[in-house]
Amino acid sequence: MNNRSEPKGGTLRGQPDLHHQLLHRNREWSRRMKKENPGLFTELAKHQHPFFLWIGCSDSRVPPNQITGTMPGDMFIHRNIANLVVHTDQNLMSVLDYGVNVLGIDHVIVCGHYNCGGVKAAMGPEFDGPAADWVRRIRDVARWHHRELQALPDEQARFDRLVEINVSEQVYDLSRTSIIRDAWEAGRPVHVHGWVYSLTNGLITDLEVTRTRYEEAVGMLTTR
Ligand code: CO
Repeated sequence: MNNRSEPKGGTLRGQPDLHHQLLHRNREWSRRMKKENPGLFTELAKHQHPFFLWIGCSDSRVPPNQITGTMPGDMFIHRNIANLVVHTDQNLMSVLDYGVNVLGIDHVIVCGHYNCGGVKAAMGPEFDGPAADWVRRIRDVARWHHRELQALPDEQARFDRLVEINVSEQVYDLSRTSIIRDAWEAGRPVHVHGWVYSLTNGLITDLEVTRTRYEEAVGMLTTR
């Protein structure tokens, strides 16, 4: 199976005028959606009430709506390389603020994925460019968990574990943002979840690091 194809489309690889293909497929998709979900577009044009805020990797192989079987309107989404939560990132913080405080979302999900290129880059030698600064944070995560990682049998095991630990650390960082803390303070039942997706079988694993209140977030610090 070609992983670049949509279920009902053919492969995009090697075709001329690729962007035309997207517009063509968009028309087909719109037609199909109208047939299968009459009234959906009319409803979505009025407002959005997503139930989930997804913070995931930019990796093309991890499309949030497709892998969770969700529809337009179900999920508010932020993606960056290696699904990082950076407190000085105005982009992410704006999405988080709008998602939690305006849209009223109670489930924030950080979803990483095995074989993440961003995590891999942070395990290798230093390099140049903006991505080097970005993944520098994962080098810190690896350093904090050095003992656990070094005890693992091989490089692949360390890579897999660092992907998981990185998600847990982002859940922790998210739970320390004023946006999440204020929501908890106000009695909101906000859940911050940590998940990891496998490229090899398309399955998501819940890392069971869910935070639902401030005390749990603080407790996580002591396990570091
Ligand atoms: Co990735």
